[in-house]
Amino acid sequence: NKPVKVGLLGLGTVGTGVVRIVEMHQEDLSSQVGSPIVIEKISVKDREKSRNIPIDHSKLTDDPWEVIHDPEIDVIVEVMGGVEQTRTYILEALSQGKHIVTANKDLMALYGTEILAKAQEMKCDVFYEASVAGGIPIIRTLIEGFSSDRITKIMGIVNGTTNYMLTKMSKEGVSYEDVLKEAQQLGYAESDPTSDVEGLDAARKMTILGTLGFRTNVELADVRVKGISGVSQSDIAYARNLGYEIKLLGIADRDDDAISISVQPTMVKASHPIASVNGVFNAVYVYGEAVGETMFYGAGAGEMPTATSVVADLVSVIKNLRLGVNGLKQIAPHKPKKLKTDAE
Ligand code: NDP
Ligand code: HSE
Repeated sequence: NKPVKVGLLGLGTVGTGVVRIVEMHQEDLSSQVGSPIVIEKISVKDREKSRNIPIDHSKLTDDPWEVIHDPEIDVIVEVMGGVEQTRTYILEALSQGKHIVTANKDLMALYGTEILAKAQEMKCDVFYEASVAGGIPIIRTLIEGFSSDRITKIMGIVNGTTNYMLTKMSKEGVSYEDVLKEAQQLGYAESDPTSDVEGLDAARKMTILGTLGFRTNVELADVRVKGISGVSQSDIAYARNLGYEIKLLGIADRDDDAISISVQPTMVKASHPIASVNGVFNAVYVYGEAVGETMFYGAGAGEMPTATSVVADLVSVIKNLRLGVNGLKQIAPHKPKKLKTDAE
């Protein structure tokens, strides 16, 4: 088979990890998909910026359209972030018949339905495993692993930055400001970390998990959100003295068909497994009527864990391409949604 040519939008924390994994595991990846995987073009904001991986400069462009309109490219991997402009790029790439892998939860939470409808029309794949919980394959699990069950609760720590911050504030007494800077330097935080600390990033992820888990059309506006910016070191110490840890928890549940979803700092009993999820780690607890309790744990952000999910999606897309099938990851509603009112 001739090489599969991939266009990469973004070469920051995640994009760098994607290039590294494709290089590091090229032999194994090629044998899985039946041909070499070539990263053909990469769009960045600043071509002159120094990079911490060796990169062939001629592959870099500061014009994403060059990547999207390259007829040689079969798959676009979007790891640049942003919403409105990025939506335009993705929709145009789909119109050109290109398959998409994205780590962009902001985009998928807001425009997932539109993007997946376009993908279906164009018979293209859109995979977005890295958009929730970094290296944990939770999206595949909800769509495929639990397709046979009725999930009634999804709960977890789905933001690595804030969990890293709360852990360091609790266990090492590091200040909020200092630990936020650390999380940014480590590449965990969003380009505007307000969305991490104010709970919006977690809310976007819970929108995706709720939609997939409950097979309905959860919207961002359905999620009640409170972040950690109001959590002080004395709150954390107070909770600890009482035998609790403060965690930013996303909770989605349903009784009958009414659902409720929230993200908020929550006191978790120190003996509960969620309380010992520390640092950049995430954990997602899923309860299904047939399966009962399950829990998934792993790094929720950072270069290599996130890139693991992105490249796994790339492998799935290329396998589908070879077989001439689509493995659409549906986010579209399967049935109408009913929200629990506060009174219920
Ligand atoms: P970075 O800020 O590290 O990288 C963004 C990349 O996109 C950079 O290479 C930047 O170019 C390029 N870029 C940004 N804007 C433009 C533009 N307008 N035109 C062309 N190129 C542009 O982001 P991350 O790698 O951290 O995140 C990327 C995506 O992955 C986001 O959607 C994020 O939410 C998601 N994600 C991130 C995780 C993480 O741990 N960091 C985990 C899971 C998902 P240049 O290098 O020149 O600045
Ligand atoms: N900023 C996000 C986090 C990146 O900290 O969880 C992973 O989605």
